[in-house]
Amino acid sequence: MRIAIPRETEANEPRVGGTPDTVKRLKALGADLVVETGAGIGSGILDSDFEAAGATIATNAVKDADVVLKVRRPTAAELKSYKTGAVVLATMDPYGNEAALAEMAKAGISAFAMELMPRITRAQVMDVLSSQANLAGYRAVIDASSEFGRALPMMMTAAGTVPAAKTFIMGVGVAGLQAIATARRLGAVVTATDVRPATKEQVESLGAKFLAVEDDEFRQAQTAGGYAKEMSKEYQAKQAELTASHVAKQDMVITTALIPGRPAPRLITAAMIASMKPGSVIVDLAVERGGNVEGARLGEVVTTANGVKIVGHANVPGRLAATASSLYAKNLFAFLEIMIDKASKALVVPWDDELVKATLLTRDGAVVHLNFQSAAPAAAAPAAEAPAADEPAAKAKAAPKKSTKA
Ligand code: NAI
Repeated sequence: MRIAIPRETEANEPRVGGTPDTVKRLKALGADLVVETGAGIGSGILDSDFEAAGATIATNAVKDADVVLKVRRPTAAELKSYKTGAVVLATMDPYGNEAALAEMAKAGISAFAMELMPRITRAQVMDVLSSQANLAGYRAVIDASSEFGRALPMMMTAAGTVPAAKTFIMGVGVAGLQAIATARRLGAVVTATDVRPATKEQVESLGAKFLAVEDDEFRQAQTAGGYAKEMSKEYQAKQAELTASHVAKQDMVITTALIPGRPAPRLITAAMIASMKPGSVIVDLAVERGGNVEGARLGEVVTTANGVKIVGHANVPGRLAATASSLYAKNLFAFLEIMIDKASKALVVPWDDELVKATLLTRDGAVVHLNFQSAAPAAAAPAAEAPAADEPAAKAKAAPKKSTKA
């Protein structure tokens, strides 16, 4: 069993899908590890560190690999080097990227989207959304404080008293909770808001104050899966009214609000920003998903006419690449471990396992995930011509039929 850890090709992606630690663990399970030259450098890992852990270094690591451990979805150019039937684990960003899914199907790989991992106890160790969002929440506060021209904690000095910075966290999921904890540790006075009632107690347990419109809609705002629903126009108006006067008094605002499968809700308007003091800082962690903040620009720090900075960094977990890679690589290892048979030391994917079913996007030349069936037909024809080498031909032939039906 050959496992490859390629270098990420996307600009602004310093993370890597494996570390010396996970290389050692995978070797212990009987795998041969091949790491692409320079794959870890963005995360502070040298080729020699990977070699010391037992990997070999190669310029085209993915060639003949049975498994590829990646951060980002492989591009069409990358896929040319992948072996048919290879298992590929990555954050696949599948929504709205049907053409890219069809490319992966066409390449005959078994592509797994780590971000579709069910949030159940057994899979917590494989939860890339949590491991990366937690770091993004931390980094958002660090980024805000570095843009802020004042100190965060209250300081009583001989030269005078410095007040504590007022920090408001909007959206209290994994990132928001870590942002609250980090801002509190740095001495800020912290308030937070969310539309899910369960967050009130979590915010208060971290020593912050909760602020929200707590009406009937709020009491129903959490889905069975623990996520937020899109709120009505009426609720949004009430929420804006409540938060507007609060935002005007804040030194730092960090927004993290997301709704699965929908654009990020707009929480901060230009009028609210105009009411803030010069020197205040807003960090929009939702900027890659449409943004919570009017005027936020992806990859930029915008300074408004009234001197408020709006921070819109892309790939915030990548801004702490070494830590992000070490946690991400552990997530991948934990998932891959269930696909390795301990006795035979071979790759044996448990296709009926609920974690496999929930994350598998493509297999045997077809898009197989129910949420993305519309991407399948483009992949169907080539798959029929080139069945996966390590799969029964009958199964490979069946795949296009399944996809055209969808
Ligand atoms: P997310 O990234 O989807 O959203 C971030 C936050 O934004 C959420 O708390 C959401 O309620 C909030 N939000 C959405 N619309 C809003 C609005 N209009 N105004 C204010 N806030 C708004 O959420 P994340 O971080 O993925 O967490 C979602 C849930 O999953 C949480 O309940 C979390 O505790 C749970 N979870 C469960 C895990 C498990 O293994 N059991 C692991 C990680 C998270």
